[in-house]
Amino acid sequence: MSRIVLGIESSCDETGVGLVRLHEDGTVELLADEVASSVEQHARFGGVVPEVASRAHLEAMTPTAERAFATAGLTLSDVDAIAVTAGPGLAGALLVGVAAAKAYAAALDVPLFGVNHLAGHIAVDTLQHGPLPSPCLALLVSGGHTQLLRVDDVATTITEIGSTVDDAAGEAYDKVARVLDLPYPGGPPIDAAARRGDPAAIAFPRGMTGPRDAAFDFSFSGLKTAVARWVEGAERRGETVPVDDVAASFQEAVADVLTAKAIRAAREAGIGTLVISGGVAANSRLSTLAAQRCAEAGIELRVPRPRLCTDNGAMIAALGAHVLAAGVRPSALDLSADPSLPVSTISI
Ligand code: KG4
Ligand code: ZN
Repeated sequence: MSRIVLGIESSCDETGVGLVRLHEDGTVELLADEVASSVEQHARFGGVVPEVASRAHLEAMTPTAERAFATAGLTLSDVDAIAVTAGPGLAGALLVGVAAAKAYAAALDVPLFGVNHLAGHIAVDTLQHGPLPSPCLALLVSGGHTQLLRVDDVATTITEIGSTVDDAAGEAYDKVARVLDLPYPGGPPIDAAARRGDPAAIAFPRGMTGPRDAAFDFSFSGLKTAVARWVEGAERRGETVPVDDVAASFQEAVADVLTAKAIRAAREAGIGTLVISGGVAANSRLSTLAAQRCAEAGIELRVPRPRLCTDNGAMIAALGAHVLAAGVRPSALDLSADPSLPVSTISI
């Protein structure tokens, strides 16, 4: 018998509600993936304002859930289990999702699973590409996170291999966009400008790639500063800033470091599959370079489609389905959100 899992995501500025079907053979099928974003309310601040995000989640939660059920052609009584992002993320934002999930779980008398947002970004790939091989390596690149993870079982066993010591990759995009007078969030406009520019125009630094640096950690704040200094210099000399070339050269530095470290980690651990997920996985240069370098190294590359890469409820429903299938004990109804939940804690 198949089971329906409802997933709720509210860790940042996206209110996501997803519905999936867990089949008897363990495969997970996407039924609905509805997202309401408050990104436009944050744009003029150049970053997410937590209080604004929390209020937007509160307003969007019920309508988004109703849209998900309508899309899937299901009703509340069809739900067999509920998964909700318990962390990491913004405390107030997480609380809205957790409160909604508890209410649904109590009203429907079904098990509730508080799950890890980062693991959700990996689990979502199973909706598109099927079960994950064990082990696989995940490169998680979003506005808040940049991590290399060894995934033995997405429902139970994830180990961090490396992470950023300062800015996340997406954060670097957002900050560089500001320097270039491009809109927030910065990833898409920089990606577009970079396609018109020369990636070899400016030799920006590759952070944490020295012989004594941690092989699998990342640093993007030096790169961000180097871009800002370069642009300031051009402006001081009264030159027009070549936005497309700066964007392309910056993007090349990011994609180069991310893919080089991921491939090296996979090689050293003898892992044959790389999954890239998170908002920055939508980046055109990152996916092209990753595909090229994975092919050279004989590594299988899996990148979920952009809509699944950015924050959504389907990723939480997918992870919930895998956790349910693994026979993990449900969370207690006094479950609370944990803004700094470590990636190794997949469900709480
Ligand atoms: O995963 P996500 O939707 O939210 C977080 O959990 O952070 O990622 C959002 C981040 C933003 O920083 C945005 O600038 C970046 O993903 N992003 C991109 C692209 N599309 C979104 N970065 C580079 N290239 C893109 N095409
Ligand atoms: Zn995310």
